[in-house]
Amino acid sequence: MLAIIGGSGLTQLSCLEISHRQIIRTPYGEPSGPLTFGKMKDQDIVFLARHGHGHTIPPHAINYRANIWALHSLQPSHVIAVASVGGIRSDLVPGSLVIPDQIVDYTYGREFTYFGDKDQRVRHVDFTLPYSQPTRALILRASELANENVAQGGVYAATQGPRLETAAEIIRLERDGADMVGMTGMPETALARELGLQYATIAVVANYAAGRGTNISAIPLREIYAVLEKAMVGVRNILEHVVSCHGD
Ligand code: HPA
Repeated sequence: MLAIIGGSGLTQLSCLEISHRQIIRTPYGEPSGPLTFGKMKDQDIVFLARHGHGHTIPPHAINYRANIWALHSLQPSHVIAVASVGGIRSDLVPGSLVIPDQIVDYTYGREFTYFGDKDQRVRHVDFTLPYSQPTRALILRASELANENVAQGGVYAATQGPRLETAAEIIRLERDGADMVGMTGMPETALARELGLQYATIAVVANYAAGRGTNISAIPLREIYAVLEKAMVGVRNILEHVVSCHGD
């Protein structure tokens, strides 16, 4: 089974033939919503809307531990997370797609680990390459077959939100090596690693980051959803090809 986490602009998967929805309870509470089960091209898929079905849960309030635990309980072969970002690197213009290969974490105050219990033996995980290489390769192969242009690699800066960044913060993030900025990449990616999931992200550039491109003095928030809606056509195309490649 393939798991897909949808972000802003992808609260449902129109290409999915839905069989049922299921509420899953976890030791960490409830996920963002019921999991949606169905088939795409005869392959089993489970879909979870990260911000809830009605897009009501802000990035800092998402129960990432419950979400990842629930998906892990289904033992998916891969988890593909779709997440919107602001573009910092000059080629990451609104509407473009990128498969990040690194992360810098600026979030705080989130439940970020399964290994935090005081009476548990101390556990660490390797996170040198934060995304699953086989999952990234699968997405990149699917993008090629789908004829969708994606940028291969980039550093994702995970910020706290829900506010967007200042122009100075974007300068700092760039100095730190960041190519894009989003609010949900962490702790989601690290939790997936703690549970040993094959997890990677398709980042969708919704806007130029603060102070960049045409957004010198403000980010036009009203335009973001139109950009995302258009870009999600490409994302759905890639996902359909992921499903085909995955069955090979
Ligand atoms: N910053 C942080 N998160 C985002 C942005 C941004 O500019 N755009 C979409 N998600």
